[in-house]
Amino acid sequence: MSNRTFTMIKPDAVKAGNIGNILQMMNAAGFKIVAMKYTKISLEQAGKFYEVHKERPFYGELTEFMSSGPIVAAILEKENAVADFRKLIGATNPAQAEEGTIRKLYATSVGENAVHGSDSDENAKIEGDFFFSGLERF
Ligand code: CMP
Repeated sequence: MSNRTFTMIKPDAVKAGNIGNILQMMNAAGFKIVAMKYTKISLEQAGKFYEVHKERPFYGELTEFMSSGPIVAAILEKENAVADFRKLIGATNPAQAEEGTIRKLYATSVGENAVHGSDSDENAKIEGDFFFSGLERF
């Protein structure tokens, strides 16, 4: 079991002014920030990041949305990080997300769902490496 996960605050939540609220929830739940940047990815970079979803019908919509505006990318640390963070963010579809989760509070649809959280230790490493060099982790 690894103790790190990767997250993005997505363009919808950034646009809505919810960066501060969401970071506060992450900190309050015990996640320590190991790396963080405010950035914007190109359509090509979004395509690469979400390559596992290439064959899905929503791939085009997803990559366009994720490259439509700035995001906050971060590596977070906590015991049991991947599973605990997925509990904190709630279900992919905000209509199914539990009360008190980040997506229940801030997501508007299954596509524009405020935050990303890695689904496995392996993907947490791949995704963190996509955004951060070793020099950017503390
Ligand atoms: P995320 O956790 O970033 O990982 C894959 C993303 O694909 C997911 O969050 C959603 O934003 C998006 N996604 C999943 N299902 C759909 C769907 N049916 N329509 C649009 N986007 C989707």
